[in-house]
Amino acid sequence: MSRIAYVNGRYVRHADASVHVEDRGYQFADGVYEVCEVYQGCLVDETRHMDRLQRSLDELRIAMPMSRKALGFVLRQTVRRNRVRDGMVYLQVTRGVAPRDHYFPTVPTPPSIVVTAKAIDPAGGAARAEKGVNVITVPENRWERVDIKSVSLLPNVLAKQQAREAGATEAWFVDADGFVTEGGSTNAWIVTRDNVIVTRPAEFGILRGITRTVVLEVAAREGMKVEERKFTVAEAKAAKEAFNTAATTLVMPVVRIDDSPVGNGAPGSVATRLRAAFHDLAEMTKIR
Ligand code: PDD
Repeated sequence: MSRIAYVNGRYVRHADASVHVEDRGYQFADGVYEVCEVYQGCLVDETRHMDRLQRSLDELRIAMPMSRKALGFVLRQTVRRNRVRDGMVYLQVTRGVAPRDHYFPTVPTPPSIVVTAKAIDPAGGAARAEKGVNVITVPENRWERVDIKSVSLLPNVLAKQQAREAGATEAWFVDADGFVTEGGSTNAWIVTRDNVIVTRPAEFGILRGITRTVVLEVAAREGMKVEERKFTVAEAKAAKEAFNTAATTLVMPVVRIDDSPVGNGAPGSVATRLRAAFHDLAEMTKIR
């Protein structure tokens, strides 16, 4: 079966899907995106992802390309047409196609929209979570508005490639004061020796991850102690546990930071519990 993508109003063969060379997403990274998990035939946390999309678009003054209801329909259609039961759906909106000029287009320009869906074998993520992943730390070099889920991801790309070349999966950005901000495509967490879950506040300097929001709710339900505060690399290396969260990886235990094993070097019980309970509290809407 060939994959299908939704591009500006049409469902096309993924292999043929394309946007104009003067799409502002292509030329200026002038656009935003969302990634939603598809879990057992359900769209996960659609409401929160659509709220964040709206916020990102508002911050960049890009119009929502269609009503929320229509967008929900396109997301579902794309998942359905690709027969995805477990995997992800990707949505990107840019300021549209216009002659290359840094200023916003002066003539009315419809935003461009692309939606793709991909099946991912859940066994892969489960196996990675059983082993845990390694992270490296890199200096924070992104712009201040990382709260906007912009497609401008060059620092993230470079940091993650550096991680891969160092035998790790993720890179944690570290601000000028030595505090971890977040991962290249995940939020960063630790569990202290006193079993307190710590993650950086999302008001500034990180993306407010949807998985992060749900995990905070899971932790509260499980009666776990949580502190939203900054933590340093040294504190993370001395922690009992560490983990990352994102829609595609859920709760992923971190077992090594640079050259230091975390805890006993194996996934910890807190991360494992949070991962197991995640879908109990996430919003799940059936796709068919
Ligand atoms: N990344 N921080 C960054 C920089 C991210 O790119 C992401 C998500 C997150 C976690 O957000 P959420 O829990 O809403 O997925 C945090 C997506 C998955 C990606 O770029 O593929």
